[in-house]
Amino acid sequence: PSPLLAKESIMATEKVLDQSSDTATSSSYRHFRVRHFHLELQVDFERRQLQGREVLDLSCVRPEGGGQELCLDSHSSVGVQSVSVRCGDPEGPLQPVCHKVQPFTSYGCTLVLTLPRPCQSGDQLQVVIDYTATDGPGVVWLDPEQTAGKVKPYLFTQGQAVLNRSFFPCFDTPAVKSSYSASIKVPKGFTAVMSATNWDHDEEENIFHFKMQHPIPSYLVALAVGDIVSADVGPRSRVWTEPSLLEAAKEEYDGVIEDFLKVGEKLFGPYVWGRYDLLFMPPSFPFGGMENPCLTFVTPCLLAGDRSLADVIIHEISHSWFGNLVTNANWGDFWLNEGFTMYAQRRISTELYGAAYTCLEAATGRALLRQHMDNTGEDHPLNKLKVKIEPGIDPDDTYNETPYEKGYCFVSYLAHLVGDQNKFDAFLRAYVNKFKFQSIVAEDTLDFYLSYFPELKEKNIEKKPGFEFDCWLNTPGWPPYLPDLSSGDTLMKPAENLATLWLAADLNMYAIKAVDMSSWKTYQIVYFLDKLLENSPLPQGNTAKLAEMYPKISKAKNAELRFRWVQIVIKNNYEDAFDELQNFLHSQGKQKYTVPVYRVMWSQNEKTRKLAQEVFAATSKQLHKNVQNYVKKIFG
Ligand code: BES
Ligand code: ZN
Repeated sequence: PSPLLAKESIMATEKVLDQSSDTATSSSYRHFRVRHFHLELQVDFERRQLQGREVLDLSCVRPEGGGQELCLDSHSSVGVQSVSVRCGDPEGPLQPVCHKVQPFTSYGCTLVLTLPRPCQSGDQLQVVIDYTATDGPGVVWLDPEQTAGKVKPYLFTQGQAVLNRSFFPCFDTPAVKSSYSASIKVPKGFTAVMSATNWDHDEEENIFHFKMQHPIPSYLVALAVGDIVSADVGPRSRVWTEPSLLEAAKEEYDGVIEDFLKVGEKLFGPYVWGRYDLLFMPPSFPFGGMENPCLTFVTPCLLAGDRSLADVIIHEISHSWFGNLVTNANWGDFWLNEGFTMYAQRRISTELYGAAYTCLEAATGRALLRQHMDNTGEDHPLNKLKVKIEPGIDPDDTYNETPYEKGYCFVSYLAHLVGDQNKFDAFLRAYVNKFKFQSIVAEDTLDFYLSYFPELKEKNIEKKPGFEFDCWLNTPGWPPYLPDLSSGDTLMKPAENLATLWLAADLNMYAIKAVDMSSWKTYQIVYFLDKLLENSPLPQGNTAKLAEMYPKISKAKNAELRFRWVQIVIKNNYEDAFDELQNFLHSQGKQKYTVPVYRVMWSQNEKTRKLAQEVFAATSKQLHKNVQNYVKKIFG
């Protein structure tokens, strides 16, 4: 049973109507509530298409001025063959429906359906759309060469932020939630997986049946099809990968996922999604991780061999409460998803690994925010927590570190005002419980915070000069409050000191050799490299010496290390390592690595520019369309 009552749903959507410009359905989702939808699709790798039908169960909740027209977000890559509707009686006859497609934005179009007659409040209707999805931005088809196994093709979908409209017609806004189900027929030898609570397999027909029993926003519906196998790594967790990566994935995560989930539950309340599985994607997957419910999609870069990149998994697990249960109602409030998730991630990390390690990780996050604000200028409008996304702007184009790290600072500030970690943890549990399965805006969060802590409300804490909540949300720039990360000093200081030694023109090799890096955590080396990067170019010759001295860095397999090292290589014109630079760009397609590396190559010199163009020409086919476009933009 959906806890999201029709009435609440109207209130939630009402509030955000005039704030969402990225969906063509604002008027429609006021009139119709989605109770459930079902996808019945056949996967055809030869023609690169998903062929089948979508059945939407709707209720008319407010017919005035809109009960006859139904608008859905769609995409030019989606072909609609026919639409029909069943009004009232679920066994009743299907009536044909007129449909037309209207232009909307660069990232979608509007499917306009004219129902046979106007609907009345309370009417239930079933809309049946026969359609094909091809190679839209949300539906990614990979050739066998782009997979680990190199033999079978692969298909995956990526919904966030507004891409699922090219997967199935929908109200493609996080303001609207519903349950869904799907039946996916795949060729012999292929496995389908989805973000769903219930899974079943008809082996004879090779049809995979899925159901997500909880209401979720459209962007969390996800599908992958390929040569995918699995292994248990915990009582409610499994890793899914292509066969050749299975052992590595199992090694890396056996036993630990359950620890993360348990701490999450202790801090934030019940984990409602049943299973928590991980799907290791082919290398071109554009993100570190994507929190598709029940089944997080992750980059294979996480298979570092030493469990050093678990923070990404902890981050995605944290979305199980922040983002997937309590969801930003529009992408302008993306910080509600990501800022709270960063905070939750670091709470779990503190419980498991202690404050020192977590502060170190947070310091690398702060360095990314510093870099971003230096690149854009602090006053840039995207450096506000609440972003105004103008009509026609793709929300994905507004993506940056601010919602993550400034969001983290704001949540930390809210915790700091409370002054007692236990009390703030209890608030977070109450917050999740209050808004679970709903979509909200920042004002809901802050109103609830003030009502939960009346003593703060009485003090007008939201108007404290310099720290006004309004300022936090609507003024661009560096956070007015930074959480104290000095617990990390024991780990950061050695890294900082070593970096200082390497910045000297006249290297003190005696002092440098006295530092033993072998027991350092990966994030200490990251921190060290960030310092070198900030100060690059280094004095002549230092980079070569560094490369020779630390094979752990110059020959690193760990993607976070390689990401920093290759930027140092570029900024220092260290041509001996240009091969490694090329290898890195060939080996993976994560947006957060690929785009900054090309940006640095482009701004360095003629030679690195030329190299950038060459590497891009060779690899662009493997990159996600959005990533391709961001790189092209850099090239101008
Ligand atoms: N939900 C995001 C990924 C995302 C954001 C996809 C916006 C599409 C549009 C995910 O939870 C995330 O933030 N991933 C990070 C990991 C991290 C901060 C530890 C990533 O991919 O780098
Ligand atoms: Zn996230």
